[in-house]
Amino acid sequence: MRLVKTIAETKKIIRLEKNKGKTIGFVPTMGYLHKGHLSLVHIARRKSEFLIVSIFVNPTQFSPDEDLKKYPWDIKRDLKLLKQEGTDLVFYPSEKQIYPSDYKTYVQVKDLSKLLCGVSRPHHFQGVTTIVLKLFNIIEPDVAVFGQKDYQQGVIIKRMVRDLNLDTKIITGRIIREKDGLAMSSRNTYLSTQQRENATVLYQSLRWVKWCFNDGLTSPKKAIKKIRAMIKQNSGKVDYVVAVNKNTLEPVKKLKKGTLIALAAYFGKTRLIDNTIL
Ligand code: PAJ
Repeated sequence: MRLVKTIAETKKIIRLEKNKGKTIGFVPTMGYLHKGHLSLVHIARRKSEFLIVSIFVNPTQFSPDEDLKKYPWDIKRDLKLLKQEGTDLVFYPSEKQIYPSDYKTYVQVKDLSKLLCGVSRPHHFQGVTTIVLKLFNIIEPDVAVFGQKDYQQGVIIKRMVRDLNLDTKIITGRIIREKDGLAMSSRNTYLSTQQRENATVLYQSLRWVKWCFNDGLTSPKKAIKKIRAMIKQNSGKVDYVVAVNKNTLEPVKKLKKGTLIALAAYFGKTRLIDNTIL
């Protein structure tokens, strides 16, 4: 496994591999890897002949009051895990490589970026699409794998790929959870023992809605109200709970098979997201 920090060298290596006729698989991450990330690496490994994982904590997707500075990292551990998964190249650029001081260009997927997480994080998705497009331009992957955990991110990236005629196939990996159901996230490390316990309500509330839906519930209003109440009872502060069309992210009038239930809530200062598809 090669660790490469410059764009020029990464491009050179990829060109050589492409010339050999190899298909390129790619998983972008911000590091501090857990089993959720590794499940995507595993999928990409199976779908490609040369596998690249990037580790870059992208400053443009954090707002000034967010957790960029304290974002957890452990590059040694990450590299060990990626080697075990059979990664061929880890792209680990510096901030200067990606955003030189005179950097000016941003890409935005309109409308979709303003819904759900985009309400409380208005610049977040512009940062995500900008870095992902840059990484796609550097790596030119045949296949890139993203997690369903960040459902909206996946929808936005798929739209960008379509709108900008990129040749990368986007694959989505299912949400990997802790034993008690909490979706794995690098941010879970911020939670106190009590908050960690309370946060399990997110998955419980989603399971509850699924169960009620299977039992005949069709009212999004009722489902959302109950989820909100459950989160509050467990000392969580709701950012949003929605029942939306899984492609357009627009609210649905009735719960149906395929409806996306998505939520974000704070436990202390830590903002967690989760979702399920009915
Ligand atoms: P990061 O939060 O490091 O996540 C990298 C990838 O792992 C994303 O596709 C995310 O959806 C996926 N992932 C995270 N937790 C998961 C879980 N529990 N189960 C399955 N997949 C999970 O998402 C980002 O980084 C950034 O926005 C990035 C795309 C790298 C751009 O900077």
